[in-house]
Amino acid sequence: MVGATGAVGTRLLSILEERSFGATELRLFASERSKGRQITSHGREWECQVLAKACFDGLDWVFFDASDEISRQWVPEALGSGARVIDNSAVYRMDPAVVLGVPEVNREAIESSVRRGDRLFSGPNCSTVQLTVALQPLSEAFGIKRVLVSTYQSVSGAGAAAMDELQAQMVGGDERSIFPHRIAANLIPRIGKVQDDGFTSEEQKLMLETRKILGLPNLPIAATAVRVPTFLSHAESVFVEFARPASLDDISRVWKQAPGLEWVDDPGRDLYPTNENTSGRDMVSVGRLRLDPSVSSGVCFWVVSDNLRKGAALNAVQIAESIRAAN
Ligand SMILES: NC(=O)c1ccc[n+]([C@@H]2O[C@H](COP(=O)([O-])OP(=O)(O)OC[C@H]3O[C@@H](n4cnc5c(N)ncnc54)[C@H](OP(=O)(O)O)[C@@H]3O)[C@@H](O)[C@H]2O)c1
Repeated sequence: MVGATGAVGTRLLSILEERSFGATELRLFASERSKGRQITSHGREWECQVLAKACFDGLDWVFFDASDEISRQWVPEALGSGARVIDNSAVYRMDPAVVLGVPEVNREAIESSVRRGDRLFSGPNCSTVQLTVALQPLSEAFGIKRVLVSTYQSVSGAGAAAMDELQAQMVGGDERSIFPHRIAANLIPRIGKVQDDGFTSEEQKLMLETRKILGLPNLPIAATAVRVPTFLSHAESVFVEFARPASLDDISRVWKQAPGLEWVDDPGRDLYPTNENTSGRDMVSVGRLRLDPSVSSGVCFWVVSDNLRKGAALNAVQIAESIRAAN
């Protein structure tokens, strides 16, 4: 596990235990500053190591949850050691030869990749995962013509240090090392680098990765990504236009059968997905479903999911489980 001490890595460790993945030996890698730190997992203590030549030798699985730079440099080494690699960085996501996996959505692509003998699998951006879990059943049932999405992304999407920054600002501090503005009591409508077309890299990831995972390379989709002062879970406001007519009943029927998705939608009784009721849980939660009056067939909805679990760590473990099942 590379990045074992980070926001995603710590979840990954506990999820492997929760789901009885069956690890008999763990090798936990982090930066120089964590070297020698003892981490308890799977009933014993493991010492954090730093990456080095041949450090992956003998491992069956390597999970990368550190950074793009680390993945770029070390994924080839892990593959060279013969391990299967699940990489949560952005480096290989858009590589046509690498499956970008969300098992509820494209398990068949993962299985075909295993049959081809591939050993590298990529995990998507956290906002992409929940969007595709909600959209895939709608795409299959009604065909999707267009998607508009605005995100409300928690600070944990920017890593453990970003959570510390919000925490410090909430109790009066003014440290600003992760975000360009105060994030406490503020919204920041820029996540990632601004591209030539004005979209940010986060928005671009959400648009391109969604097309790839849904297998709709020409899907018209536009995104606005906003950082909000919450700690955990990302929320999204989504508008979808369909190719075929779809009533609210049709959609509820489809969503109720969709894997990994729960429908929480009784706004009159204040029942809808929130950060609080999704954090620490595995499901992607949808609600606030309405017909979109501005198009002939379409809906608006709200989707929330724990970005560190289904948006990253859980999804990576589910990819590994799908690979195992395909063998
Ligand atoms: N956060 C999310 O919601 C999310 C969702 C999807 C994908 N991802 C991806 O998951 C990855 C990790 O994100 P995160 O939010 O967990 O970040 P994070 O909290 O900042 O954790 C980064 C991890 O990388 C380790 N690291 C830093 N330099 C290293 C080095 N030279 N060698 C080995 N390990 C090193 C850190 O170790 P130290 O503790 O020693 O510094 C830490 O364990 C990123 O690629 C991110 O894009 C994140």
